[in-house]
Formats: sequence, C-alpha cells, structure tokens
Amino acid sequence: MKDLIDKLAAGHDPTDEEWKRLIEGEYDRTLLYAEADRIRRRHYGTDVYIRGLIEVSSYCRNDCLYCGIRRSNFHAERYRLSKEQILECCRIGYGLGFRTYVLQGGEDSFYTTEYVAELVREIKRRYPDCAVTLSLGEREKPDYQRWYDAGADRYLLRHETAGKTHYGRLHPAELSYDHRIQCLYHLKEIGYQVGCGFMVGSPYQTTEDLIADMRFMRELQPHMVGIGPFIPHHDTPFRDKAQGSLERTLTMVALTRLLLPQALIPSTTALGTIHPQGRELGLKAGANVVMPNLSPVSVRKQYALYDNKICTGDEAAECIECMKRRVASAGYQIAETRGDWKGSLGEKKGR
Ligand code: 5AD
Ligand code: FES
Repeated sequence: MKDLIDKLAAGHDPTDEEWKRLIEGEYDRTLLYAEADRIRRRHYGTDVYIRGLIEVSSYCRNDCLYCGIRRSNFHAERYRLSKEQILECCRIGYGLGFRTYVLQGGEDSFYTTEYVAELVREIKRRYPDCAVTLSLGEREKPDYQRWYDAGADRYLLRHETAGKTHYGRLHPAELSYDHRIQCLYHLKEIGYQVGCGFMVGSPYQTTEDLIADMRFMRELQPHMVGIGPFIPHHDTPFRDKAQGSLERTLTMVALTRLLLPQALIPSTTALGTIHPQGRELGLKAGANVVMPNLSPVSVRKQYALYDNKICTGDEAAECIECMKRRVASAGYQIAETRGDWKGSLGEKKGR
C-alpha cells in the first residue's frame, strides 16, 4: 500500500481499482495519515488557520433531504441576523484573533445581492486586514461577481457528491447537479479562492461516488475542500440512516491532502460531533483549518443541519480557547493570520 500512497503523492492518477484499494482497502491507515501530515507540513508547517463562522440565516428555500434546515422541516426554528448583528460578531471575532470571517447561511432571498454586497463592503472597510468568505449557496454569475467586486475573497460551495445519480438521491428534482458544478466554475473564473466538498457516508453513497469526488477535485483544483461525515437529523427523511464513519472520513481527508497538496482543508465540526477527538484526528490526517463558531449564542442551536452539533452553547471566547488547546494537543498551533492559499492561482500542480 505504501507504494500506492507514494504514487498518489507524486501526482499519479490512480485507476478505479487503485482508488478502491486506497478508499476501502484493509490496510494500516497510520501510513496514509502520516504521509498526508508530511505533505501538509511541507506546505504549511504546523500552522492551523482559524475561520470565524457566522451562521447568518437558518431560512432556506432548498429541500435537501439530509439537511435539518430544509424548507419542509416545519419544526426548524428560523432566524436571520441583521447587518448590525453580523458586524457585532466580526467585532468580537477580531478581538479574539480571527482574520477570516465566513458568512454562511441557507439560501435565503432576504439577503439580496445588494444587501450582501453592502455587508461585505462594510466588513472590508472596518477590517481591511481580514478575508471575507461567503457560503450562501447557488447564485448566478453576476451576483457572485458583484460580491467579488465588493471585496469578498473566497466562496465555499460544497458539491456534496460528484456522483450524478447519487446527487439525485440526496436532493429534490428541482436541484441540478450541473448547475451546482457550473457555480463552482463561475466562482473560479471570477477569481475567488474556491472551496468545494462532500459528505462521507451520506445515504446511498458508494465507493464509486467517492472516486468521482476525487476525480472531480483533480479537475476543478479547488483551493479549499470541506469534508465531514453525514450525520442524520431527526426531522429529515434521512432520520434513520446511518452516520458516516470516522475512519472513512479521515481516509478521505488524507487522500484529499495527497491529491491537492496545497489545499486548505478544515477539520470540520461534523467530525468533532461524531468523535470527542474528531477534529484533532482530522488535523493529524492532513487538515489544516478549523472553523470555530462566531454566531451569537442565542441562535446557535437553531442552525441545526444535523443532530448533536457541538459548540452550540459556548461563547466564542470559550470556543477559541478550547480550540487552541485542542490544536496544541495535536501538535500544531493556531496562526492568527488570514491564512490564504499558498499556491499561485492558475498553477497546475504546486509541488
Ligand atoms: N450531516 C452532515 N453534514 C451536513 N450538511 C448538511 N446537512 C448535513 C448533515 N445532515 C453539510 C452540507 C452543507 C454544509 C453546510 O453542511 O455538506 O454543504
Ligand atoms: Fe467549541 Fe471546544 S471548540 S467548545
């Protein structure tokens, strides 16, 4: 297995059979995690970047079958943050050392293109040394362009799965795989640092779907990749489905690091939710970003994409202290910088 891991790290494009062995084969994963960690250290040392996550709205017009804030969940408590509330989160975050703000929310038409552009301009005016990341779902290219022109630096839009049939089983018919992928390419063309990503162990996912994810990422060359286990939410059609496994998630994080040596890869909250040391293990398997919650504590429980989400009761200050300890215990340290991608845009392979 060592030779296959080394080949992948050297840029080899694995066959179906080789991907299958890497993903689901029975072998000692410590080898894989160690190689992923070696490559992340080569490019980023032991720095871990922090992103202040502000969950701006739990309203969503979409009805993704896995998600707790899907529109047909009538039990979901809905909220949306005002411009003033979001700016207050930024103020608190700045004092705690955050230099990236991630504005994430459901697809909520309240946040018009102009509203978001104005908000981005104001954040950049107050905090010119900070990066703004948007994660507001699918929009048309001119909307993305307006936000970029207003100063947004990065955009997160997980593709969720690159298996087209699988995509259709996770989403209602009105959502289109092709449109989502189109969005990612539009974002890249505009000049954003772009993040895609997928859930591990989502219902009906096969190894072929995960191979499709890897091949898709080889083509897209995203700057960021969010990977987390699927976790059922009790008020969704997937309430009785099994959650994604820790080992499979860590395997996909490590393989992604080998595939995209310079990627910014968060050790996700979902990973921390399925295992008490999940985020530490993610860092040791090649992840180099954590995204502590900066949302007002009063709304955190309402942004419930899945059950038992961690960090919903903690103040931002406690969360960041806890995170510093966790990151240090794994052998890394938090860098209080913007934490931009270290490759050069348009570059094919950075190694
Ligand atoms: N389990 C794990 N991750 C989920 N997401 C949404 N619902 C769930 C769930 N039940 C992820 C999706 C989305 C991101 C914001 O959260 O991948 O893109
Ligand atoms: Fe949020 Fe530990 S990281 S409380």
